[in-house]
Amino acid sequence: MTTPPQPPPRAPRTVLITGAASGIGAAVAEAFAREGDRLALADRDGARLAALRERLPRTAAAVTLHTLDVADADQVRTTVDDVVRDHGGVDVLVNSAGILTEVPLVEMEPSVWDQTLDVDLRGVFLSCRYTLPHMIARGGGRIVNIASQLGQKGGEGLTHYSAAKAGVIGFTKALAREAAPRGVLVNAVAPGPVHTPLVDGLSPEWKRAKEAELPLGRFGRPEEIAPTVLLLASDPGGNLYVGQTLGPNSGDVMA
Ligand SMILES: NC(=O)c1ccc[n+]([C@@H]2O[C@H](COP(=O)([O-])OP(=O)(O)OC[C@H]3O[C@@H](n4cnc5c(N)ncnc54)[C@H](O)[C@@H]3O)[C@@H](O)[C@H]2O)c1
Repeated sequence: MTTPPQPPPRAPRTVLITGAASGIGAAVAEAFAREGDRLALADRDGARLAALRERLPRTAAAVTLHTLDVADADQVRTTVDDVVRDHGGVDVLVNSAGILTEVPLVEMEPSVWDQTLDVDLRGVFLSCRYTLPHMIARGGGRIVNIASQLGQKGGEGLTHYSAAKAGVIGFTKALAREAAPRGVLVNAVAPGPVHTPLVDGLSPEWKRAKEAELPLGRFGRPEEIAPTVLLLASDPGGNLYVGQTLGPNSGDVMA
């Protein structure tokens, strides 16, 4: 019996992931590692990045670790330059770094507002700002910004986070229009509640109430979000998504 001809193996992509040390970012890193891609993993938590590297599937073509604060322009620019030097370019950028606190607006210190916007919105701007020119110079790329369903519907005690994530969705649409003619496709993924350290910090009341209002009746797991990111980065599956916000969200928001 003859074996049917196999398609030639795809060349490994270089995937830069921010917030890679934990939760959704770590699940995305594992998924791209299984695809045989080259990974540049960035996070403020260097120790957890090192721990992730130990448990990644050995199928990754290469792995480099980069400790940074995504809200710091110099650190982001230097990290992107390091990744381009080490890997020859960036094919896929996934912005997953994020923070979340639960504070009613009437009690919110302006510094809490600023910190959330700095990490959750400015951080996305900065990594796109410094990565996109490299993608354009090489003729293309994919950017996937992790937003949130709370940027679509809002959440009590989460005005700062909801505003930042709504900002990510608007930013994604605007940048998608700028970048698509240059071969770079920019999209967002807006997960619903997912079991990660980020939501562990929310109050039990908030979590119980949230679970009860989900049509699916449960939170997601990080490995249930990663495939949507992979789809947006894929060829041909992701080729026609431009400025979209995909919602693996347990039915919390129906677009
Ligand atoms: N878990 C959820 O329910 C949920 C739902 C919707 C959207 N999201 C979004 O998904 C993304 C990932 O969240 P997660 O749930 O995996 O959380 P997580 O806390 O497990 O992971 C977030 C990672 O971001 C890193 N990080 C935080 N601030 C940083 C900074 N200034 N610079 C660099 N790295 C920084 C953390 O060290 C951590 O490793 C976030 O953008 C979050 O807002 C999460």
